[in-house]
Amino acid sequence: MSTDQRDSGRPLALVTGASAGIGYQLALLFARNGYDLVATGRSDSIDRAAADFEQHGAHVVPVRADLSERDGVQVVWQAVQDTGRPLEAAVLNAGRSIGGAFLDTDLDDELDLLALNITSVVALAKPVARHMADHGNGKILITSSLSATLPTPYETVYGPSRAFTYMFAEALRQEMKDRAPGVTVTALLLPGATDSNSTPAPAWATPPSAPAPRRTAASRSPPRATAPSWPAETTSSAETCVRNSPP
Ligand SMILES: NC(=O)c1ccc[n+]([C@@H]2O[C@H](COP(=O)([O-])OP(=O)(O)OC[C@H]3O[C@@H](n4cnc5c(N)ncnc54)[C@H](OP(=O)(O)O)[C@@H]3O)[C@@H](O)[C@H]2O)c1
Repeated sequence: MSTDQRDSGRPLALVTGASAGIGYQLALLFARNGYDLVATGRSDSIDRAAADFEQHGAHVVPVRADLSERDGVQVVWQAVQDTGRPLEAAVLNAGRSIGGAFLDTDLDDELDLLALNITSVVALAKPVARHMADHGNGKILITSSLSATLPTPYETVYGPSRAFTYMFAEALRQEMKDRAPGVTVTALLLPGATDSNSTPAPAWATPPSAPAPRRTAASRSPPRATAPSWPAETTSSAETCVRNSPP
């Protein structure tokens, strides 16, 4: 980030998993609401997403890192530190799901999911929370899921991973009230099934007159700039969170 970007006067937000799906939409909201961004993804599609966010006036540092690896978390946090700016908001969103019967699914794949959906959230929340506590303010948004609230057969590892992030966020929220009252922690609990790269549109979200075309890898990229089939409560929760963090 160049010197003029350091002096942009805009607040800085970190969004993980910003190259697609929910994270992409959240990063867009931050850009539209006057934030600069450190935006992360695993693939080079984060560069294309960063160009989209910059269309809204944001200075963006795109970071490509595999957050299921501890080194990837370090790369992301180093990118935030390299800006030399206080982090006003952090969205810990990168995550993935695995469907199928537990008897059939691959253990290594599931352990990889846990590394991303749980371990990376804790590993990144640590420096983020300490940084914000030191500065006396900040907002942390952790993407959970409606799947956190009930058993999820055939997503037997995914659902509990989101339950962890929900309870982790709620616990951290209480601690911050005691130790750093200017830092808020919010769990984004209400994403139900949301049309994204990892999750096809649910049948109830598809108008009968416009059947969804079969989705291919090519049709899932680039990420869409709008998400008309999102459940309304998902969009409004996210917008409320962003708008609660004015520059
Ligand atoms: N979609 C739903 O129905 C739904 C519902 C409730 C909650 N959620 C939660 O919302 C979050 C986002 O899901 P989504 O559906 O928006 O997913 P998505 O469209 O597949 O996007 C996932 C994002 O995470 C990044 N990512 C994936 N694996 C990664 C890794 N190992 N290291 C770093 N980044 C990685 C992807 O980067 P690349 O594109 O570069 O691979 C992408 O930016 C997840 O935590 C999920 O649990 C989703």
